[in-house]
Amino acid sequence: MTEEQITDKLVSLYGSEVTTADIKAFCSMNDIHYNTVTRKLQKYKVSKGKWNLEVTQEAVEQIEKTFNAPSAQPALDCVPTPDKTFVPFGSFKDVKKIIQSKQFYPAFITGLSGNGKTFSVQQACAQLGRELIRVNITIETDEDDLIGGFRLVNGETVWHNGPVIEALERGAILLLDEIDLASNKILCLQSVLEGNGIFLKKIGRFVRPSKGFNVFATANTKGKGSDDGRFIGTNVLNEAFLERFPVTFEQSYPSIATENKILEVVASELGVKDPYFCKRLVDWGDIIRKTFYDGGVDEVISTRRLVHILRAYSIFKEKGKALQVCINRFDDETKQSFMELYDKVDATFNIPVDESEQG
Ligand SMILES: Nc1ncnc2c1ncn2[C@@H]1O[C@H](COP(=O)(O)OP(=O)(O)OP(=O)(O)O)[C@@H](O)[C@H]1O
Ligand SMILES: [Mg+2]
Repeated sequence: MTEEQITDKLVSLYGSEVTTADIKAFCSMNDIHYNTVTRKLQKYKVSKGKWNLEVTQEAVEQIEKTFNAPSAQPALDCVPTPDKTFVPFGSFKDVKKIIQSKQFYPAFITGLSGNGKTFSVQQACAQLGRELIRVNITIETDEDDLIGGFRLVNGETVWHNGPVIEALERGAILLLDEIDLASNKILCLQSVLEGNGIFLKKIGRFVRPSKGFNVFATANTKGKGSDDGRFIGTNVLNEAFLERFPVTFEQSYPSIATENKILEVVASELGVKDPYFCKRLVDWGDIIRKTFYDGGVDEVISTRRLVHILRAYSIFKEKGKALQVCINRFDDETKQSFMELYDKVDATFNIPVDESEQG
């Protein structure tokens, strides 16, 4: 008798769950040896003296594997790489001290765009060899993105830790970047911001913060919205949420000397040997910022944009072209006034002729 014939007959006689007594009765009825039958039913054995003819051992293992499957694994090493072009300034020293203390002490860093808020948290972690998990917050960011949820991995549904849970468990630094773009869904982090860990209701597990876990948030506003419309998409953050950050750092643009140093380091990385250009760019940025603070212009030149210009110069090898392509993002009037201003600070400069206007 084949395995199939044996199982079919057994199921029709006793159902899918059979015992030693059932098999013995079956053997005497069919004049077949007990050991021959049990050998053929080996893969259906569920425990001593019991066989389930519908569920093979293989199927049982598969089910157990599904239940015990690990959550989808993130990248192993989250320590940022030190960047040679980084020049410490502003809140950097304090940010580094907080991280070094390994205390849970959430900090909010606010300031205009492109002045090194994100970069300083990254580099503080890089210098201290600490893991950093950065989450870019948007209006769409929800509990699933932050805390985690179920994902399909190799055809199986498994729990996947969100960045917040990863950071809690690893004792890493959690960077909530651009937090003022968040909706009220961010409030799911209230208990995490109190240093209490979080209960994952979907899998019934409580996650406690490991030593070293801390949260930094960056934003262009202070979470009170942006009246002048400069930062479209920023939202008014819940007062109780903001209250959970004990300290706020106001990051401003670097001083002339620091910014000059930044541009010189970047220039040397790019192989651009033009300290004069770096100096003029810094002067130009400084004048524009002063005018901006006085309400004279609506746009500002960030440290990031000065770096962009230097990069463009290393590619196009022309100051005019580099400036042009990097300030094209502003409206025509602003572009023209920025270009004329540069012309005033750099004696060696000629305003480029707009290519689209050439015959
Ligand atoms: N301290 C610094 N040393 C060297 N480069 C810097 C420094 N700060 C800023 N930069 C330059 O400015 C760029 C922008 O910095 P970063 O992304 O940290 O700005 P941000 O303040 O987070 O801006 P946003 O508000 O738009 O997110 C960096 O990529 C770097 O090129
Ligand atoms: Mg940033």
